[in-house]
Amino acid sequence: MRAAALLACALALPACAQQAGVRGDAQRGQALYEQRCAACHSPGADRVGPRHDGVFGRRAGSVAGYAYSPALRRSTLVWDERTLDAWLRDPQALVPGQQMGYSVPDATARADLVAYLRTLSTK
Ligand code: HEC
Repeated sequence: MRAAALLACALALPACAQQAGVRGDAQRGQALYEQRCAACHSPGADRVGPRHDGVFGRRAGSVAGYAYSPALRRSTLVWDERTLDAWLRDPQALVPGQQMGYSVPDATARADLVAYLRTLSTK
């Protein structure tokens, strides 16, 4: 019953499902990460993009030694469910002048990716 209501809600309006507290699936998120993010990111090492271990709760643009855009370095965002979702939906809208040329239009995929990012350790 509840699942059906949430599904209807998600189909009608992705933001509605998000507000209802629907969590992504970290396992699906990991598979998506390997397909879509691993060309530029890795959990444990800086590549084209910064490392993601410990990204949840971290200030944006704060990995020491990674050459961020001035825009992201100057931003005062802290990465959580809401900010990561907005970043993945449209990084340029969230932080004009940033340098990640990639976005994830699908709300379910974003929720899954964020659930996976949340599992990454700080080590
Ligand atoms: C084409 C390369 C590329 C792809 C693909 C890519 N990214 Fe990025 N990402 C970057 C770059 C470059 C930055 C740094 C942006 C800046 O400094 O403005 C970044 C930054 C980030 C940040 C901010 C991290 C921090 O330390 O503040 C997050 C979170 C992120 N990416 C998540 C993802 C996820 C999740 C995916 C897959 C859906 C992804 N990225 C795909 C290149 C990429």
